[in-house]
Amino acid sequence: MDIESFRGRVVAELGDDVRIFRAPGRVNIIGEHTDYNDGFVLPAAIDREVLLAVHPRGQRLVTLTSLDFEGSSSFSLDEIGYDAEQPWSNYLRGVCYVLEEAGYHLRGGDVIFSGDVPIGAGLSSSAALEVATATAFLQMAEYEVSGKEVALLCQRAENEFVGTRCGIMDQFISALGQQDHALLIDCRSLDYRAVPVPAGAKLVIGDTGVRRGLVTSEYNTRRAQCEEGVALLQHALPGITALRDVTPAQLEAHRDLLPEAVYRRCRHVVTENARVLQAVAAMEAGDLRTLGQRLNDSHTSLRDDYEVSCPELNAMVEIAQRQPGVYGARMTGAGFGGCTVSLVDEAHAEAFAAEVAPAYREATGLTPQIYISTASAGAGEVE
Ligand code: GLA
Repeated sequence: MDIESFRGRVVAELGDDVRIFRAPGRVNIIGEHTDYNDGFVLPAAIDREVLLAVHPRGQRLVTLTSLDFEGSSSFSLDEIGYDAEQPWSNYLRGVCYVLEEAGYHLRGGDVIFSGDVPIGAGLSSSAALEVATATAFLQMAEYEVSGKEVALLCQRAENEFVGTRCGIMDQFISALGQQDHALLIDCRSLDYRAVPVPAGAKLVIGDTGVRRGLVTSEYNTRRAQCEEGVALLQHALPGITALRDVTPAQLEAHRDLLPEAVYRRCRHVVTENARVLQAVAAMEAGDLRTLGQRLNDSHTSLRDDYEVSCPELNAMVEIAQRQPGVYGARMTGAGFGGCTVSLVDEAHAEAFAAEVAPAYREATGLTPQIYISTASAGAGEVE
């Protein structure tokens, strides 16, 4: 829903004195499954977002209405519980809970929200909802909180209230994204740098249409395997605390300490960290070919070593990689379905979308969605 139709709708329901906030979804260009290993990521916020309107109330009651999901949900800020009947509401509840726990005294209000980030597609619709909620409730209570702090609070809400052990990338880029830029984020220090998306290239997102329930369990298994790898490597490398500290050469030298599967998981992470830094150097030098090659390499590593791809993602990536004007393509997000990202020469982007969709349909029987995206600004109030 565009902002003017959303505004019309919420003003009709909540009155003139509503305030509207927004927070975007994201596409990760490269640096997959590195954030929870203290590593590097290179995401961009996209032009799909959650819009959230709040009408303040004197008391501590919050009512939530979604324009996209059935039903509504309400709670008191003095006692925020989990709502099993309206699972979508737990992203907002969790954020309010964590903010209150952190000492922010929030104001109640009536909330209506809507979004066009596809759900469960690996484009961080949940992070967008969390960051929109935190931004709205903090601003309504007149707190000035940095984007980093907002991201950390939202991650905590997802880890502790919703129960997903995600890293920091999605909330960080939703809070701090910049128009026409990706962010190189060091997920250990949380230092970051904006890197311009090269003029003349487009990030094209392809949604495979595949949604698999195993994302959470497989995600947690991968995290545990990375932790196991660190614990075993510490016998030889006592100074390390995360895979971030291990170079590809060190991993090879101590490969015999690791079970085969754990070794391959670690190899993905340590080579992916190196690829992110190479990709950023290429992006800053305007070397789209090298940048695209790193995307292709990342996909191979996610498919073969980290084993988080699936036949549909592989099919779409292979179709994308053979189109004219494509520098590189890979799966993006946690995996097991969801989306691919392709770096495409701007002049070829429309033709790319028109070619990939039918070829993917023919290969899989599924109808994909293709979005030519623009790197967008992070969360804030809509004037
Ligand atoms: C999900 C998580 C992120 C990150 C990616 C994989 O999107 O929320 O923290 O781990 O998967 O790179």
